[in-house]
Formats: sequence, C-alpha cells, structure tokens
Amino acid sequence: MKGTACKEKTLYEHLVQSVVFKHYNKEVHVQSFDKAYLSIIGSGRSAYVFKLEGTNKALKIFYPPYEHLAKKEAGIYDLLKGIPSFPELYDSGENYIIIDFIEGHTIFECLVKGIHINESVLEEVDRNIEAARQRGLNPSDIHLHNILLTTDGSVKIIDVVRFDQIKHCTQWEDLKKGYHKFYRKRLFPKKLPHKLLLLIAFFYKKNLLSRFIT
Ligand SMILES: Nc1ncnc2c1ncn2[C@@H]1O[C@H](COP(=O)(O)OP(=O)(O)O)[C@@H](O)[C@H]1O
Ligand SMILES: [Mg+2]
Repeated sequence: MKGTACKEKTLYEHLVQSVVFKHYNKEVHVQSFDKAYLSIIGSGRSAYVFKLEGTNKALKIFYPPYEHLAKKEAGIYDLLKGIPSFPELYDSGENYIIIDFIEGHTIFECLVKGIHINESVLEEVDRNIEAARQRGLNPSDIHLHNILLTTDGSVKIIDVVRFDQIKHCTQWEDLKKGYHKFYRKRLFPKKLPHKLLLLIAFFYKKNLLSRFIT
C-alpha cells in the first residue's frame, strides 16, 4: 500500500473506532463519534452512514451483528465499478466501507419534500440495473431509501449488499407500478406525509398492498 493510502486507512480505522453503537429497544443508536471529522447522514437496517468532513466521501459502518456485510458490499461495489449510477468504492475494512458521498435526496425524502420525480429517473435506474445484471448480479432491495436524486439531476443507487442474492426481489418493479398507477395521476399529491409513507412501507412489507399495485 502506498504512503498516502496507508495514512488514509489509518485515519479511517481511527474514525471507525470512535463510533460507539448502543442497542436500545430493538433499535440501534450512535452513542458517540468523532464529531470533528464525521457527521451522520443516514442509517438503515444494518448500518449508520457518516460524511467524512471536508471530503466528498461517505463512511458506512455496519453495526453488530452485521459487520460481515462490509466485505460483501465492498466486493459487490468492485463488480459494479464504472457503472455511472453506483458510487465508487475507495476503501473497506472489517466493518466499514468508504464510498462517494452523494449530495442530494433519497426518493423517500423527495416524496416528503414534494421534489418532483420525473419518469426519466425510473428509466435511468432501469438502465443501471440492466448494466449490473450484465455483470452477473441480481439487483435487489431497490427501494425509496436506496435511490438518491443528486443536486445535479442524476440518479445514484446505494446499498448494494443484496445484489448477489438468488431470490427474485420485486420491490423496484412494484415501485414502478405504483409510480404509474398513482404518482403520475394529475390529482395525486406530489408531497406526502412522512408517517403515511412509513405506514405504506409497513403494509407493503406485510404483503397487504399487492392488489393495489397489480
Ligand atoms: N453515499 C451516500 N451519500 C449520501 N447518503 C447516503 C450514502 N449512503 C447512505 N446514505 C444515506 O444513509 C441511509 C442508509 O444507508 P444504507 O447504505 O442504505 O444502509 P443500510 O444498508 O443499513 O440500509 C440511506 O438511506 C441514505 O439516506
Ligand atoms: Mg438501505
């Protein structure tokens, strides 16, 4: 490893160690972290994501018991290298990855803020999913929190850890159906309450919405 890369790795490892997770009420919270270098930008089912201050990079740290997913996600980002809608991977370790920081909003945030989602966004996601398929992957878990609209109008797909699964995932196809059946309708509200969206996601996971989107 070259000198600068080695120094960066030491810094990343140091920052990862500064993050202390706390499991509380079946939820995971961040108890403390190095606030001089990191700011929290999001969290999901397996990780917290931080912006590395003063850079365009994001640090995704997998909390227990999901640490092993870091190596897996890094391997998948390697396979996706060069496909425009996926962030670039810069480094990875036992429980973390370093990828491009994406300036923008998730589709979920766009719906809450009333930011218009053009049909070209869906087409761009489709093109990039197809490119990932061409590399032998099975794009999965593509939902409202894992697609971002950037401030310059392009689309990024994150959270690729399940792209190597065998099982067919219908989330993206269902979202597209919902877009055409509801969102595109003239009278459908383009700004939706946060709680309502969470409720829709809850019912979707329970498989209670299939008759509305077929
Ligand atoms: N590279 C990034 N740039 C900007 N925001 C990000 C980035 N990666 C993740 N996020 C934010 O953090 C959230 C959780 O990240 P994600 O990788 O989906 O974690 P999980 O695997 O736990 O679902 C995302 O929904 C998004 O809001
Ligand atoms: Mg996610």
